[in-house]
Amino acid sequence: MSEAVLLVGGKGTRLQPLTINTPKPMVPAAGVPFLAHQLARARAAGVEHVVLATSYLAEVFEPYFGDGSAHGLRLTYVHEEEPLGTGGAIRHAATALRAAPGDPVLVFNGDILTGVDIGALLLRHERTQADVTLHLTRVADPRAFGLVPTDEEGRVLAFTEKPRRPEEIVTDQVNAGCYVFRREVIDAIPGGRPVSVERETFPGLLAGGALLHGVVDGSYWLDLGRPASFVQASADLVRGIVRSPAVPGEPGEFLVLPGARVEPGARLSGGTVVGAGAHVAAGAAVDGSVVLDGARIGPGARVTASMVGTGARVGSRTVLDGAVIGDHSDVGADNELRDGARVWCGTSIPDAAIRFSAV
Ligand code: GTP
Repeated sequence: MSEAVLLVGGKGTRLQPLTINTPKPMVPAAGVPFLAHQLARARAAGVEHVVLATSYLAEVFEPYFGDGSAHGLRLTYVHEEEPLGTGGAIRHAATALRAAPGDPVLVFNGDILTGVDIGALLLRHERTQADVTLHLTRVADPRAFGLVPTDEEGRVLAFTEKPRRPEEIVTDQVNAGCYVFRREVIDAIPGGRPVSVERETFPGLLAGGALLHGVVDGSYWLDLGRPASFVQASADLVRGIVRSPAVPGEPGEFLVLPGARVEPGARLSGGTVVGAGAHVAAGAAVDGSVVLDGARIGPGARVTASMVGTGARVGSRTVLDGAVIGDHSDVGADNELRDGARVWCGTSIPDAAIRFSAV
């Protein structure tokens, strides 16, 4: 039996204000909480039991996912009163695992969308008898990530978390947030205090002579930590650029959930999703965006690469481009918000009050 720990307890500060009322893994992407895609992919790879390591807004997961049977999985919830960091969370969650010493345990960050072949990762782990096997991906600008150089056989040589100096950038291979641990390696993580797996556990293992293997995989990979990448991931799921069995519809240029109303003459494109009970008025154009449940897009509004929160309103002719509108906020007519502008939950913006600004 394959088991996995999914780390879903982070505060998701970079994704605020969408993560004020909703933990990041529960923010909908392509019509369902992002976590549903990860669970569906894990299930498809043969995982049968998933331990959800929760902390921030922990109470919202179980009412939605229950015991997991509706998703073909067994789910266990493990809650940290105080966030224990990525390593501490893995250690804490291990109390709910059945894996015996020597058995592999998959660990996923809860904010990564990837097409990586999980089965191939498990196979490599078994063949190399590694203590930890890490999925690595290549990125154009590795500065915001954890760098993981390897030798020609894939053995990990070092960990450099978010390098600052140019001489530290020795590779474009970065930690992709998906690991296979030997069970006993998890049990050796110190308990009862915060531990970062990236900054403490992995470098410590390496220094102690453990065998860590990296598998560089070129399949789809996106870190959803920031609004722009979250919106991108949702659009890619809707369009089928990355496949998830949890998308509630066939791949296409847009996805309209049951109960949404899109008036004739409105244009949807670029993998836009329109949530249940949302309304898109005639003459509005919504491209590559996420419109959450109950949101309203006014006549002639132009919404591009943006997120519109639950129950929010976007006024007539307002332009959003790369903006995030918090839940239940009200953006009046003839505004223009671009380039990472964020409107806090419940905020009202009068008509024609903002041009080009980051709020
Ligand atoms: P930011 O605040 O925007 O950095 O996001 P984040 O809080 O999600 O942190 P980060 O992206 O570094 O976390 C990577 C993964 O680990 C995410 O899936 C988080 O949910 C998870 N995570 C981070 N810290 C904790 C923690 O203390 N406990 C648990 N259970 N999960 C965590």
